[in-house]
Amino acid sequence: MFRQVVVAAVVLLGLSGMLEVLERSRRVQTAASTGYTHVSSGIVDADAEEYYRLGLTPHHSVEVTTLAGDAVVDKTVLHGRFLHITDLHPDEMSKTGASFANRCHRKDKQALPDEAMHRYGDAMSGCDSPLELYEATLQWIRANLKDKIDFVVWTGDNVRHDNDRKNPRYEGEIFSMNEKVAEKMSSVFMDDGEEDTMPLDRRVKIVPSLGNNDVYPHNLFAPGPTLQTRELYKIWRNFVPTEQLHTFDRGAYFFREVIPNKLAVVSINTLYLFKSNPLCDNCYNRKEPGYKLFQWLGFVLKELRRRNMKVWLTGHVPPVPKNLHYSCHAKMSVWQHEYRDIIIGSLYGHMNIDHFVPLDSVKSWRTIEKRLGKLDYETYGDGDEEDDLETYEQLGLLDDDFEIVRGSRRYDNAPNGKVSYLEDVRDGLYAKLKGPKKAGKDGERYSFAHVTASVVPTFNPGFRVWEYNVSGLHHGEAESFEPWERFFARLEEELAAEDSTDTLHTEASKDKTIPPLMPSDLPLGPAYTPQLFSPERYTQYYVDLDYAAKHPDWKFEYQVEYSTDDDEYQMDSLLVSDWLRMARKLARSAAVAPDDAETAGAKKLWKTYLNRAFIDTGYQDLPIANK
Ligand SMILES: *[C@@H]1O[C@H](CO)[C@@H](O)[C@H](O)[C@H]1NC(C)=O
Repeated sequence: MFRQVVVAAVVLLGLSGMLEVLERSRRVQTAASTGYTHVSSGIVDADAEEYYRLGLTPHHSVEVTTLAGDAVVDKTVLHGRFLHITDLHPDEMSKTGASFANRCHRKDKQALPDEAMHRYGDAMSGCDSPLELYEATLQWIRANLKDKIDFVVWTGDNVRHDNDRKNPRYEGEIFSMNEKVAEKMSSVFMDDGEEDTMPLDRRVKIVPSLGNNDVYPHNLFAPGPTLQTRELYKIWRNFVPTEQLHTFDRGAYFFREVIPNKLAVVSINTLYLFKSNPLCDNCYNRKEPGYKLFQWLGFVLKELRRRNMKVWLTGHVPPVPKNLHYSCHAKMSVWQHEYRDIIIGSLYGHMNIDHFVPLDSVKSWRTIEKRLGKLDYETYGDGDEEDDLETYEQLGLLDDDFEIVRGSRRYDNAPNGKVSYLEDVRDGLYAKLKGPKKAGKDGERYSFAHVTASVVPTFNPGFRVWEYNVSGLHHGEAESFEPWERFFARLEEELAAEDSTDTLHTEASKDKTIPPLMPSDLPLGPAYTPQLFSPERYTQYYVDLDYAAKHPDWKFEYQVEYSTDDDEYQMDSLLVSDWLRMARKLARSAAVAPDDAETAGAKKLWKTYLNRAFIDTGYQDLPIANK
């Protein structure tokens, strides 16, 4: 058995990988004699073919052993992978054969055959997910991916849209649907033998965040505590640590240690930052729930840094200018920047379009300085950006929620607005990225927000699996920190004290919603240099619904749409510098001249990017609606 393992490792890891495996097993032996320690050893996943079929890296997992003296107190496997899934939108009213015009809720004798819902739904039909799509998706993930991942980032929208005049949504339906989906997620990601384990303690941790369609009426969410925050805590009791109940009550935000003492996922309630929430205006007024969210985030990040932990930020609505008030956008951006020693990146859903968005810390600090008070900030030596707000406002072009408006024929009115949105992202954000001199050696001026495909068939259904570096998880004395209960008790006191300080304009330097600059002696984190928890690649999965509709005998399955290290994207890793390179190349595709090989390559890449943005539906090539 051992020989088999070694042989496989040589073939698949190459010589350097092999040495790494040997090195790791050596460390396991030496670490065994020290104190309370985590050690890991390379293990070889059972079936390499299975990983190739799924577009994943075989032999990526490590076994982590916790020792107290010589005694093994715990053994777990870390796969170095997590799932990001979003916008499930299961619709209990949808029916096979019902017409698109009726949101797939009712038949219509006049509807053309290609305007009636198929079993697993239809891309660009304007309908939500049929239950069969929703169930089959989660079953496929359970059968194929569950045993290969460490945790799940689940960024909301679990209820149908409010788009059928004959069947408006009601409050009870929304709570009950959220509850059903939460129960389902709990059971789908439960390992065999975990039936008696408390859901919070199970191996695969699930971190939900709140979608704009998960609340009633949609988009509208009041500052907590409210009945809604309490109800939501009940619905999410399997996901939100008990000691965070009180902070959760302030606004449905929390975080989870997905790898204890090492890696956390922060769930941000983006409805407090969202322009479409009529109960929130901005993030600079002390009364605003968005302001309070950043107070909380500041405390949490500070503590996570103290514990030497790394962090993913997650939420439903991504920080693109059209979605957020500029003050909320600027604050998200500067927090992500000033905690670049620990923040790995940020993950969102909502838009149904697979794409990524840079955040520019210099522009954001400038916005904060200009609009919210004078502050010191780090610059990379440029003084040529007077256009931050202008750019910000130009990028506000899209209709909400990206619903496809339909005309009499299926695609007649599919607006080309989404292609022009991506062109705005390209020309307004990618093309404005500074060169290495002003971006910093590792691109540290910038950070990135990643928006993944939705399960709901606005385009084709999709989700992604990220792979991250666990080979660096060698060993270390487990440090001990104060119990989280005590931290949260302290946090409650501090937040309450801030609430009660006089509401007159506080000095900007005391404004806790604006981050302190990152101490200059801290090294850049996993987003910037290769290290433990650095993202390495991701694989995007999808279902071709058109194919499924035409092949009634087709057996439901997701297939690999692409991986970031394939021949098209050629990304060796997913550090900020890799995303900058990608964005600059995409920006070049807009060039009219010169018509050189580089530009031709960029134009080809842009075509691929658009096709992937719309999950292989060909949406980008649909004729523009003629009026
Ligand atoms: C993973 O992290 C380790 C350090 O923890 C580093 O030496 C190694 O190069 C990283 N691997 C990759 C593929 O980036």
